[in-house]
Amino acid sequence: MSAMDATAPLPWSAAPRATGRLPWIGPGLSLLNDPTAWFQRQRERLGDTYVFETFGYRIFNVFSPEGVKNLWALPEASASKGLGDFALLSHKVPAELFDGRRTLPHGLFARDNVETYLENLGEAVDLELTELGSAGELEAFAFTRRLAHRMGLASWGSPLATQPGRLEKLVPAFDALDSSESFVHPAKGFLTWATGKRREKAALAEIEAIYRGILAERDAMPAGDRHEGFFAELCANWEGEPEDVRATGIARDVMLVHMGSQSNLFAAMAWTLVHLLERPELLERVRSGDERLLEQCAHESIRLRQRSIVLRRILAPCVIEDEHAAYRLEPGLFLATMLSVTNVRSVPGLDRFDPEHYAKGAMFARQGELPARELVTTFGHGAHYCPAARFSIRAICLATKALVDRFDLEPRFRDPKPRRRQIGGVSRADRPCRIAYRADP
Ligand code: HEM
Repeated sequence: MSAMDATAPLPWSAAPRATGRLPWIGPGLSLLNDPTAWFQRQRERLGDTYVFETFGYRIFNVFSPEGVKNLWALPEASASKGLGDFALLSHKVPAELFDGRRTLPHGLFARDNVETYLENLGEAVDLELTELGSAGELEAFAFTRRLAHRMGLASWGSPLATQPGRLEKLVPAFDALDSSESFVHPAKGFLTWATGKRREKAALAEIEAIYRGILAERDAMPAGDRHEGFFAELCANWEGEPEDVRATGIARDVMLVHMGSQSNLFAAMAWTLVHLLERPELLERVRSGDERLLEQCAHESIRLRQRSIVLRRILAPCVIEDEHAAYRLEPGLFLATMLSVTNVRSVPGLDRFDPEHYAKGAMFARQGELPARELVTTFGHGAHYCPAARFSIRAICLATKALVDRFDLEPRFRDPKPRRRQIGGVSRADRPCRIAYRADP
């Protein structure tokens, strides 16, 4: 029994409070200016548990081992991740996209269809690298963004989506819809709101129209020629529906899965490449076939560059304890922690890139030193652990290995850092990361 059991929980409002000068906005502007630094500064001023109110949201924050562990343990029924995400994304994403979805990433990635998806991923990488030609310059994040579009769509959006003519239209439409924009560039959220999501709704309609064409072509093909990986499951969920309902349903399911991928995958790929190019001795080992090291670098890049805010919306009264008190959380409140704060501070040396941190595969190797294992994470913990974690690591390794095998790469960037303003997802870089490439003879 813990020390807290004897006393009644405190109201959430009894926690120390971070304030700002402006009513309603509160500390919102300094928070958005540099969320990671802001959360850490409040921690140093107020302690590991504090509340603040901004733009009409009331947010209860935990950073201590006990607090963070208990956040991850709260069930969806009382502390909802789905509605936490919705609060972040609803400013950006047209509401109809959330309605009536039949395919969630959980179902797709739970199946053991690794063979087909690896084949489709391999082909997508091959096509994209061929398009690079024999020499030139690329920007790491722009390049992996396009590559991840191609790899993702080839996996769950039908290989027909990546054909010339279609991919060129789908990429800008998905970029317009990209929900992660709402937390990578929070200020752009106001533009979306001010324009009534016009750009996003046009992108949604365009993707739906392209999928009507894809489905017509796909349905005319013999099933054995399709090689469509996850897309087959996605289509099966709409079998038997009237044609327009089926086409719209499938297109929107693809959009929701693809948007989940856009938040993190390409940025994790880019950082893995950047970190390797910054360390020629590691790059050489990867070139000589050290696949385990490449996987370690992918996990370590994600840990170090994570900018995710873990956000839950409280749906039913519940209690969260830290080391000093128990607090009663009320419906409507948000509960949060920020991975960019805990992932790099929980034991000494975590602010540096070291692939040995993942010498034990996906498990953080220094877990024994942590006061709570939840303080460091790449793909989350517990019930909401990322369903696409294994897929993502395979995709990153496959793409990086193909790139370093096929080209001599020369970094033309210096010491990139995460974008300061980002709140959510794996960070984008604060400067262009240019890389000169030349085909290895
Ligand atoms: C390197 C790539 C990725 C990283 C670092 C990553 C990270 C994460 C993290 C930290 C969470 C837990 C968040 C929380 O509990 O608040 C999560 C959940 C999730 N991720 Fe990923 N993710 C990646 C790739 C993907 C991809 C490719 C997809 C979809 C195709 C995806 C779909 C999801 C979904 C649907 C959830 C929510 C699961 C649930 O609520 O049960 N992720 N991811």
